[in-house]
Amino acid sequence: MAGRIDENSGPDPADKLAPSILAADFARLGDEIRAVEAAGADLIHFDVMDGHFVPNLSIGIPVMASVRKITRLPLDAHLMISEPERYVEAFVKAGANSISVHCEVCPDIPAMAKKIHALGARASIGIKPETDADRVLPFAEHLDMILVMSVHPGFGGQAFIPSALEKLRHIRRELRRRGLKLDVEIDGGIKLDNIADAKAAGANVFVSGSGIFGKPDYKKIADEMRDTLRRTSPNL
Ligand code: DX5
Ligand code: ZN
Repeated sequence: MAGRIDENSGPDPADKLAPSILAADFARLGDEIRAVEAAGADLIHFDVMDGHFVPNLSIGIPVMASVRKITRLPLDAHLMISEPERYVEAFVKAGANSISVHCEVCPDIPAMAKKIHALGARASIGIKPETDADRVLPFAEHLDMILVMSVHPGFGGQAFIPSALEKLRHIRRELRRRGLKLDVEIDGGIKLDNIADAKAAGANVFVSGSGIFGKPDYKKIADEMRDTLRRTSPNL
């Protein structure tokens, strides 16, 4: 079942680095993905925007299907869309390994998780900066991941909102208290200089768009981020 502790690792799940391709050069998307794969990315974070849930548009199902053909990395679909239940099946069929749906547009989290699991993907719920984590925590047993937004969804390249750290601590403490080993993903404004703060506060999946694709050498910045993570322990 989702979220259960397994015995072959420590108290929290392993760290994962998830470059957000929203900050990639879309004219060279295949090369960009291969480059972050070679740099040691663990996941490809794939931001979907509908111009309704967020005031912007991005990429969708056909791009997911093309990306699926050129990487073996898990594809981490972040659906910033209204009525996500209409599209989860299409995204999983196109190759998504995990689906994050926002709690603000998901009235029945257990039913959504069940639907995503039945399709064969990992189930995650996203939380906007102004939304309380307690909207999601009662349903944590049903989930594989909780996505905490540390910018207002809709655009890459924004500044990290510091109150996300307290939200991370609250979530990780509560998960530990209940013996649940979910991934906790932090998304928005993560760079080399604040990735340690996010890990110390309990995150273990680190999305970074401009923090990686905005640098000239993806391998160098990814190595530096990993070194920083290795030297940092959760401090709740
Ligand atoms: C924002 C997206 C984020 C974004 C992160 O709406 O969900 O995933 O691409 O980009 P950076 O790291 O540049 O804030
Ligand atoms: Zn995202």
